[in-house]
Amino acid sequence: MGFRDKVLFRFYGKQDMKEIVPAPPPLVRNDVAAVQKLFQQHVVPSYGRFEIVLSHGAGSYVYDVTGKRYLDLGGGIAVSALGHAHPAITEALVEQSRKLIHTSNFYYHEPQGRLAQALTGLLAPGKCFFCNSGAEANEGLFKLARKFGHDDGRFEVITTLNSFHGRTLAGIAATGQDKVKKGFEPMMPGFRQVPYNDLDAVRNAISPATAAVLIEGIQGEGGVSPARPEYLLGLRALCDEKKLLLMMDGVQDGHFRTGCFQSFQRILESSSAAQTNGDAPGSGFLPDAISMAKSLGGGFPIGAFWIRAPYSDLLGPGAHGSTYGGSPLGCAVALKVLEVIQREKLADNARKVGAFIMRRLNDIADKYPQVVRTARGLGMMVGVELATNVPNLPGDGSRTQAARFAQLLHGAGVLTIPTGTQVLRLLPSLNLRQSEAEEGLNILEGLAQKLAN
Ligand SMILES: Cc1ncc(COP(=O)(O)O)c(C=O)c1O
Repeated sequence: MGFRDKVLFRFYGKQDMKEIVPAPPPLVRNDVAAVQKLFQQHVVPSYGRFEIVLSHGAGSYVYDVTGKRYLDLGGGIAVSALGHAHPAITEALVEQSRKLIHTSNFYYHEPQGRLAQALTGLLAPGKCFFCNSGAEANEGLFKLARKFGHDDGRFEVITTLNSFHGRTLAGIAATGQDKVKKGFEPMMPGFRQVPYNDLDAVRNAISPATAAVLIEGIQGEGGVSPARPEYLLGLRALCDEKKLLLMMDGVQDGHFRTGCFQSFQRILESSSAAQTNGDAPGSGFLPDAISMAKSLGGGFPIGAFWIRAPYSDLLGPGAHGSTYGGSPLGCAVALKVLEVIQREKLADNARKVGAFIMRRLNDIADKYPQVVRTARGLGMMVGVELATNVPNLPGDGSRTQAARFAQLLHGAGVLTIPTGTQVLRLLPSLNLRQSEAEEGLNILEGLAQKLAN
């Protein structure tokens, strides 16, 4: 009898062991084809996956089941804020799971209250609601907008073209990209899209039914496009004038990724119009609500939205809920992620290493314009736009250039996140070292040089 069986035997006795320890599944470990076959047979094929079968990670590196190492510049799509297998996250998971994993929201517990206090403290007086994902956080914002406008018959939310707000029915209706809507029509009513960074377009789209405006500070899935400072400030003034809620989707660009807690703070930091006398840069601007997820849990699924006072009690008892939302375990991990980000000054690191990445990418774009057209972004949220027709790009011609370039990088041991046809996103952990960034960019430059010649 092995150690595990001995322990189980002590607790449960021999009779019950069979039920508690089901027969192990057939061994598929280290077998790429076997894992892929499991997916083909049993997993809904809704994702276009790359061939890689990942096994484990450490810091900014992940390993596949064949032992190949990759520098992870995709960060699980802006999620793994502290990298892989960070001991502080493991410790928080173990410690909290020994005490209380789940309670339901019928009861109070300290981690949820403390996390709400911490997030609110990073913004302004208001309150937080907790859920499990970015889409669910945005659903909360849509319900907030409906509640806000309900008594005078307003329900519509203006969003922007090229935006992305999640895969739920309301999320795809809000999203400004046809590809996520296709096949799921009719769209849920109550959303209207206008061009991004175009204040007049928002003004012209306002109707007696409009309750709110929702934008990303930096469009992520839309190709890493930051909002202009004047646009943000103009939206704030317009929403005040028309009595609309200004809501921001901070799911991808939030949680210190840009070097500030929220991307609008980074965008506005050098804008004198956004400063009130003596206050921190950007502090003159505030949205009315912000959705969060991704890096908030550093890989543990947790989402949230913050609502500014005086709207923070609009969703009263019974108005909204989520069974797992704000569980002791999720909140304990999110608190730990926040603590490490602050203690290790990872916002500064994101800003510094992000600037280094941008400089190197601009050099590469200057040297090989046939391959890299331009780079844009802030901090650790960077988009590399490829040239329209990258020469000699191998791979299946029916796939996008972005996917084929990402695949080429996989071969060379780097993970990135393709978006649209032309853009590769770098959304690495906030503790990525400059030497690691350099390693990835040297590889990217080497590939650009080979393709160009
Ligand atoms: C800006 C933005 N909002 C919402 C979402 C949806 O988040 P989730 O996939 O956690 O539902 C995403 C996901 O990529 C996103 O980038």
